[in-house]
Amino acid sequence: MSPFLLFRHSRANQVSLLRKWVNYVRFFLPLWSWRKFGNALLVLASYALSRLTGRYFVWGKPYSFMIEPSAICNLRCPQCPVGLKTLSRPQDNMRFADFKAIIDDIADYTWVIQLYFQGESFINPEILDMVNYAYQHKIYTTISTNGTRLANETFARDLAASKLGTLILSIDGASEETYTIYRQAGHFDRVLKGVRNFMRARGEMGKTFPIADLQFIVMRHNEHEMETIRELGRELGVDKVIYKSPQIYDFENAEDTLPQNPRFRRYEKKDGQYVLKGSFSGYCKKIWYGSVITWDRKVIPCCFDKDAEFPLGEMGKESFGEIWEKEIYHQFRHHVVDNRDQIAMCRNCTEGLRKFWRA
Ligand SMILES: C[S@@+](CC[C@H](N)C(=O)[O-])C[C@H]1O[C@@H](n2cnc3c(N)ncnc32)[C@H](O)[C@@H]1O
Ligand code: SF4
Repeated sequence: MSPFLLFRHSRANQVSLLRKWVNYVRFFLPLWSWRKFGNALLVLASYALSRLTGRYFVWGKPYSFMIEPSAICNLRCPQCPVGLKTLSRPQDNMRFADFKAIIDDIADYTWVIQLYFQGESFINPEILDMVNYAYQHKIYTTISTNGTRLANETFARDLAASKLGTLILSIDGASEETYTIYRQAGHFDRVLKGVRNFMRARGEMGKTFPIADLQFIVMRHNEHEMETIRELGRELGVDKVIYKSPQIYDFENAEDTLPQNPRFRRYEKKDGQYVLKGSFSGYCKKIWYGSVITWDRKVIPCCFDKDAEFPLGEMGKESFGEIWEKEIYHQFRHHVVDNRDQIAMCRNCTEGLRKFWRA
């Protein structure tokens, strides 16, 4: 939003907008690092050069990571490998000592961490220490949550007081009835109570961060509630509502989940098979600028490798810099560039496609 828009608002709104801008500057300024900026430029330049020349250059190290604080979850969402109980790898919480060692290793070049992967991050009792430790190392963090733990007022307050950058609230229903069709074992009222606890605490502290985004996966059973969820978001006071298209694993019963609205279907049917819409090249930016670390310190190439089928190394045994330069990592990138459509997880990956819509 332009600062000039300030003049168009009432005095009370002007004060609140001004406070918001001051809070933005105060939150982001300590995160600035010329070293991280230089690394990000190198990464993007090498990606652009690879695409332009059709050759292969990888400079710098990833500036964005996904780190999994927990692979355990209390809900049973039917199109999530954790909810479905189909995840084939062990599930537990990451230890804080391991997290610290990882941050100490990658902090010089990392700008952003999505502090969630599979599982529910707030199940890890040390999650807020992780958030604050990352911020001390100039790293912006985002967490996506099913929101159940926010019903605990003390936790909601501690979260509001933390240095988390963005909180994504996964609420895929605007009523108890639709909510529990996907968020099985969850309770709509409890989650709303939790969001209210958090928003109240953040308001009382006069904070802008953590930014709160309400995320709604648009599915067959809830697509009629898109307007209602927007109103609910307004009533709760969240910063924005995001609509997300569903990813599916159970293609036999795909039509039970996929919405009728074509805007929110990422798949189309070709020769009787569901395939992702659109065409994309093998140059997947994600494997240039990002990487993923599971709760047990395994490095895997991207967030679509939910079962860690492509382990590239283990933090603690090697530094991330060593893992990034290993032959196996380079081979994986080459493999994606040359044969992206032959790798099963890449066929269900939306990199380069639009999958979020903001309201
Ligand atoms: C596996 S979840 C883990 C984080 C947390 N437990 C949650 O539900 O927000 C990671 C993200 O995937 C989203 N998600 C879950 N099922 C999905 C699906 N079928 N399609 C697209 N996104 C999905 C969640 O809403 C969340 O934002
Ligand atoms: S709450 Fe998140 S991790 Fe848990 S089952 Fe649902 S999508 Fe999966």
